[in-house]
Amino acid sequence: MSKNYAVVGATGAVGVEILKVLENRNVDVGQLKLLASPRSAGKTMTFRGKEYTVEALSEDSFHDVQVALFSAGGSISKQYGPVAVSSGCVVVDNSSAFRMDPEVPLVVPEINPEAVKLHKGIIANPNCSTIILLMAVYPIYKLYGVKKIIVSTYQAASGAGAAAMQELEDQAKAHLAGTEVPTNILPHQLAFNVFSHNSSMDPESGYNQEEVKMVKETHKILGDANIAIAPTCVRVSTFRAHAESIHLELREKGDVEKMREALAAFPGVKVLDNRQANRFPMPLEVSGKDDVYVGRVRMDYDDQSGTNVQLFVVGDQLLKGAALNAVQIAELL
Ligand code: A2P
Repeated sequence: MSKNYAVVGATGAVGVEILKVLENRNVDVGQLKLLASPRSAGKTMTFRGKEYTVEALSEDSFHDVQVALFSAGGSISKQYGPVAVSSGCVVVDNSSAFRMDPEVPLVVPEINPEAVKLHKGIIANPNCSTIILLMAVYPIYKLYGVKKIIVSTYQAASGAGAAAMQELEDQAKAHLAGTEVPTNILPHQLAFNVFSHNSSMDPESGYNQEEVKMVKETHKILGDANIAIAPTCVRVSTFRAHAESIHLELREKGDVEKMREALAAFPGVKVLDNRQANRFPMPLEVSGKDDVYVGRVRMDYDDQSGTNVQLFVVGDQLLKGAALNAVQIAELL
């Protein structure tokens, strides 16, 4: 039976992708409500060839809606998520507002789909860097166990929203034209630059919020707090796919060919690991793709123990890192 859907943040970078994913996956959508800020009220958007008018989000938005996909930031989720639940909706929330709440399942459908059953109205979609990391790590974790993860991210502008993607484009043009480079959304010039992730930094630990999310969310999703995780999160001047360089310390000796086979067999993962042609995953090629791409599967150069492996991973932040994962959760309901 079809369900009525609401997309909160429908005009945003993730919201637009949610509509495309619902369309492409033939999700049985009955009525559809597109919700955003009052700035967007009255704007029209197309879904399955039909025009819909965007409405301003309010406490009355959720009558007769069964599934609400939220992607309008943490404060909107905190304020309106419980309102949607009390109107009878199941909320799939893309923000970090409820992820670490013990009552809220945090789900990557290929990894812990069973957690969805425990929901009490809200299911959280994990952080994009965490989803992309775990899609590559989980098949290896199942094979050999993992003691430690050292990960460095190369994160696209899309994670900071549609306005940040536009600003990256404007910055590139301004930089090349020799005019003043705008930094209204991003804290620094991202075009032709790399900077430490723009989430807030804890001066005591030296870790930013994005890094802390990768640690805590990995422990929650895998139900394994024994994995040591050392992340470094960085923004690079790409538009929408995140890359990650990952080092794993395995619990047992690993075999590169077996790991490649396990990755290739895992739903939602593709192996692109052509050493002869020097062809590995790239953000430009992975943008717009559902799968997370893994390459450069290799043992640590100097390690004699056979338990240290390295990977290079790229996933579309807006799709598997956000919209696709959220719609897959809705499909599980
Ligand atoms: P709007 O386009 O009207 O500003 P992004 O992550 O790309 O920045 O998108 C954020 C999304 O959240 C947009 O759809 C945006 O709508 C929406 N949003 C921002 N503030 C509010 C608000 N106060 N109420 C409802 N939606 C909001």
